[in-house]
Amino acid sequence: ARPVIVDCDPGHDDALALLLAAGDPRLRLLGVTTVAGNQTLEKTTRNALRILALAGITGVPVAAGCDRPLLGDLTVAEDIHGLSGLDGPDLDVPVPEVSGVHAVELTRRLITGSAEPVTLIATGPLTNVALLLRGHPEVTSQVRRIVFMGGSTERGNTTPYGEFNIVTDPEAADIVLRSGLPITMIGLNVTHRALATTEIIAEFHAMGTRLGGICAELMTYFASTYHRVFGFEHPPVHDPVAVARVIDPSIVRTVAAPVAVELSGALTRGATVVDLHRRTARSPNADVAVDLDVDAFWRLLMTAVRNADGA
Ligand code: BDR
Ligand code: CA
Repeated sequence: ARPVIVDCDPGHDDALALLLAAGDPRLRLLGVTTVAGNQTLEKTTRNALRILALAGITGVPVAAGCDRPLLGDLTVAEDIHGLSGLDGPDLDVPVPEVSGVHAVELTRRLITGSAEPVTLIATGPLTNVALLLRGHPEVTSQVRRIVFMGGSTERGNTTPYGEFNIVTDPEAADIVLRSGLPITMIGLNVTHRALATTEIIAEFHAMGTRLGGICAELMTYFASTYHRVFGFEHPPVHDPVAVARVIDPSIVRTVAAPVAVELSGALTRGATVVDLHRRTARSPNADVAVDLDVDAFWRLLMTAVRNADGA
C-alpha cells in the first residue's frame, strides 16, 4: 500500500478524508497532522483524534502543528463548521493523547523512517507543509508528491476569487507551489461536484452503524450551513477528493499547468492563478484537477467508511 500522511483541519469534509485515508486498503496511513484553519488548532486536533477513535483506528500517530498562518492572524470557518469545528453529531468518545512532537517534526520522522517515498495529502491551510519544506529540505527527495485540496481554476468561496485553505495562508501555499516537487491541486472547480446529496446521507444512515450515523449527521449539519451561507442545495465534500486522487487517479482527471498564488492583490490575495491556456511563459508546476468521476468517488468513500468502521 502507498504510504501517506494526512495534514488536516477537521472540519466536516476533513473527517471524511481521514476515514477514506484510513479505510482504503491501497493506502497506508503513517500519521495524521493537524493545522489551524476551520477551527483553532486545539479544536482541529481534538477532532482528528475523535474521528480516528470513533473509527477504531489505533496506532496512527497524531501531532498538532501550527496554530496560525505564517503571516497575519487566523480567521476560522465557524459559520460553516460550527463552534467545535465538527458540529452536528454527538462525538463523545475517549480520545488518546496527542503525540508530544510538533506536526512538522512528526512528518520529518515518518518520511525519514519510510522505506518508500511518502505522499503528503493536505486538506487544510498549507502552513505545516511549507514549514517542512523550508525547515527540512533534506527530506523532500523522499516526498513522492504533495496533493492538496485548495484553490480553484474558477472563483473562490472565502473571497470572490480566493478559496479558504489558500486565503488562510497564502504565503504557505506560495512556498509549496514554488517548491519544484510534484504537486496535485484539487480545487473548488472539481470539489463542488462531490455533493453529499440526500441519497448519500441516506446511504450513510442505512449502514446501520455508529460511524455511518455520525457521517450522516455530519453531512446533515454541513448541508444546513452550506445552504445558509452559500445557498447550496447539497454540501460539497472537498477534502476526500484529494485522498481519492491518490487512491485511484482515474477518478480525478488533471492537466499540467502553471499555478501561482496572488500574494498582493488588493482584491484577490490568496487567489490561485491557474494558467490553463498557457498565456504566460511559466512552466507547469502542478497537475490541476479538472474533472471528477462523481459516482466512482462516492463508491470509494462509502466502501472505506464501511471498512473503517470498527477497523
Ligand atoms: C476547504 O475549506 C475548508 O472549510 C474545508 O475543510 C476544505 O478543506 C474548502 O474550501
Ligand atoms: Ca479542510
